[in-house]
Amino acid sequence: MTAQLIKGADVAREIRAELKQEITELKEKHNLVPGLVTVLVGADPASQVYVGQKEKTAQELGIYSERHDLPEATTQEDLLALIDRLNKDPKIHGILVQLPLPKHLNETEVLYTIDPKKDVDGFHPVSIGKLMIGEPDFLPCTPHGIQQLLIRTGVQIEGAEVVVVGRSNIVGKPIANMLLQKQKGANATVTICHTRTRDIASHTRRADILIVAAGKPKAITADMVKEGAVVIDVGVNQIGTTDSGKRILCGDVDFDAVKEKASAITPVPGGVGPMTITMLMMNTVRAARVAAGLA
Ligand SMILES: NC(=O)c1ccc[n+]([C@@H]2O[C@H](COP(=O)([O-])OP(=O)(O)OC[C@H]3O[C@@H](n4cnc5c(N)ncnc54)[C@H](OP(=O)(O)O)[C@@H]3O)[C@@H](O)[C@H]2O)c1
Repeated sequence: MTAQLIKGADVAREIRAELKQEITELKEKHNLVPGLVTVLVGADPASQVYVGQKEKTAQELGIYSERHDLPEATTQEDLLALIDRLNKDPKIHGILVQLPLPKHLNETEVLYTIDPKKDVDGFHPVSIGKLMIGEPDFLPCTPHGIQQLLIRTGVQIEGAEVVVVGRSNIVGKPIANMLLQKQKGANATVTICHTRTRDIASHTRRADILIVAAGKPKAITADMVKEGAVVIDVGVNQIGTTDSGKRILCGDVDFDAVKEKASAITPVPGGVGPMTITMLMMNTVRAARVAAGLA
């Protein structure tokens, strides 16, 4: 079997078109413009690219966008004071602090200072707690993107054996929790694997849906995958550079071999990646609706 490609770029485009329409209507009917602020500390090149992409996407969709680029030497006190101002700013519905922060800053304290009503990254403990009990305000963007990819490509999630490889707070744990909920687009039986799991392959081979977020190039080989499984590869690993200096990326799944066994698979790049920013925009629109009493 050669797997169907799950193209995140296409699904993301579809969702963005829906969001653009919704944003136009919010403006016309309610004079409401969703507002997103990005805060970047330091000059990390990858973070600059990510923030630039978020700003550009927001502008394309008609979201009010503000960007604060702070110097590397910014103090914790100054950063918290900025977040406090943004928490109170009625134009701003979503606050995104680009991670990682420089080492001298306390990331946890910064994330906890964001008003949970503006937590469009979905990393605040209030957001995570609400996700756990099945009453989410803001779902973290990458797991939400994965769930939307599954739903919109018609994958049967209800009753499926889902195996998640990786237990990070930003991907593994939240996607496992989301697919476990007693809700539409969920109701799966979920197993989470990590580096201390005995015989990982015995779990992955049972998976109808295998979600891999390990950050290890080609950690999942074809012999670890069941015939006909749906495989979602979250990993983004740089394995080299081209002569012209472009990064060569690969996922956590041995794509060429696994695609001959799976029924559907996400490519890297072009799979999960394009969904993440799109879900950030969705959260920003939701935050604006909630703030205006329109949710
Ligand atoms: N496309 C996107 O938008 C997007 C977004 C976020 C992340 N990513 C990518 O997704 C990958 C994972 O990111 P993350 O932040 O979740 O990573 P992370 O914080 O490094 O967590 C990796 C997890 O995978 C587990 N793990 C590592 N190697 C393993 C192996 N060989 N077998 C089983 N489990 C293994 C680790 O187990 P332990 O807990 O036991 O150490 C850990 O729980 C990275 O490549 C990252 O770049 C992509």
